[in-house]
Amino acid sequence: LGRSLLAPSLLSADMMDVGGSVESLRGAFDWLHVDVMDGHFVPNLTFGPGFVRALRGRFPHAFLDVHLMVEEPDRMVSDFASAGADLLCVHVEAARHLHRLIGSMRDLGVMAGVSLNPATPVEWVYPVLHMVDLVLVMSVNPGFGGQRFIPETLEKTVALARYREARGLGFLIEMDGGLGEENCAEVCRAGCDVVVAGSAVFGQADPHRAATGILSKLGR
Ligand code: DX5
Ligand code: ZN
Repeated sequence: LGRSLLAPSLLSADMMDVGGSVESLRGAFDWLHVDVMDGHFVPNLTFGPGFVRALRGRFPHAFLDVHLMVEEPDRMVSDFASAGADLLCVHVEAARHLHRLIGSMRDLGVMAGVSLNPATPVEWVYPVLHMVDLVLVMSVNPGFGGQRFIPETLEKTVALARYREARGLGFLIEMDGGLGEENCAEVCRAGCDVVVAGSAVFGQADPHRAATGILSKLGR
């Protein structure tokens, strides 16, 4: 605790004024989490590379954490990298040739992350842990904001933190879904370094206050 980051999810921002939503936080965040959904890997549609490019233009110094909930992510990583993403996270359930895909993300000059759905065993990412910058442990089934945290996912974070320690690796652990002021400290104690929060930030009447409330629970 004390060094965990907050990544508000723009999925819950005002879709008519995303820039205004981000500005309403008045800097009370670390990363901006962008949920890309293709209507196939998940039953919802959201943002494309044009959105990431516009975000990059408006917030040149923000760290853009792009979560790709898409089938065939290998066909999309280059467009999102050139749009200005800092980190691209692909789902292991969607990536057929994971080492090759991570290698191509590296070649594109972005940070490389891999994500696990709640029911996917943590062992699925073990073969690539030496080559990723981040593992995203989904704590809800992806597709929508405002769902309940699935507690069984916490043990994957614990296992990843132990594995990282035992092997001297440096990847970050991020959790996404159902997180807010009431449970963010607990997931960070389990080993989470980056807390994604959508509805707990932008779904609140005062998003700035909500974000600072979460940051204070993170010891910030
Ligand atoms: C879920 C997305 C999340 C979502 C989280 O498919 O990956 O990033 O925005 O929303 P909350 O924090 O409301 O559960
Ligand atoms: Zn997400």
